Amino acid sequence: NPHIPVITIDGPTASGKGTVAARVADRLGYHLLDSGALYRLTALSAMRAGVALDDEQAVAQLAEHLPASFANGGILLASEEVGEAIRAEEVGNCASKIAAFPRVRQALYALQLGFCKAPGLVADGRDMGTVIFPNARLKVFLTASVEARAERRYKQLIGKGISANMDDLLADLQARDERDTHRTVAPLVAAEGAYILDTSDMTVDEAVEQVLHWHTLL
Ligand code: CDP
Ligand code: CDP
Repeated sequence: NPHIPVITIDGPTASGKGTVAARVADRLGYHLLDSGALYRLTALSAMRAGVALDDEQAVAQLAEHLPASFANGGILLASEEVGEAIRAEEVGNCASKIAAFPRVRQALYALQLGFCKAPGLVADGRDMGTVIFPNARLKVFLTASVEARAERRYKQLIGKGISANMDDLLADLQARDERDTHRTVAPLVAAEGAYILDTSDMTVDEAVEQVLHWHTLL
């Protein structure tokens, strides 16, 4: 529906997309699409079903019939709450591998469009502005230095009581950036017309206010 306002927020891992998207959606009363969660859910399903992560057809089949539901901020996979489980770094790394398969991306396409409902949508991910919602009203490319992002991830993990190692995190982030940027389908790239926001030296509040300000200009 071309009349429903969509704000896309794309960017690399730990740039703050999820946090900023949720806050902007909350302020505007819009729906929220965390598209990364769909790739993470697919990865988790594959890991649990013992499906080989390099079996494109089998993983795509799981993605097509993802028994997922989203209600009240929770994420259910076959009626099990997996909101926490899908955040594991291992699941994120697997998600980034299966996200390179065109058939997996195709399988999740319609599901993502379904989130676009009145009064509006804030969608975050890698290809929200380039592939899924190319006609979005406002496109933002959120980024930050790899060091700033590793530090944010580190604090997030420590905050959750999970031990983390800065060198490993930096290496993981760089590997993920590399895969997400250089894959042939829907690579991570700023959409045409996107506002680029480098948040290396910004707080979450400042980033949220900047996005809301751009929104009022439209
Ligand atoms: O939070 P983080 O940025 O690390 O990850 P995420 O947004 O939850 O996404 C996990 C993985 O799914 C990413 O590394 C991407 O490879 C993939 N993804 C994608 O390909 N396209 C999207 N629209 C969203 C995520
Ligand atoms: O979704 P994505 O992987 O891009 O990032 P996230 O899960 O939202 O994590 C970003 C983390 O960095 C959160 O803990 C934020 O509080 C923090 N942060 C931020 O998002 N933006 C800033 N400008 C500063 C810190």
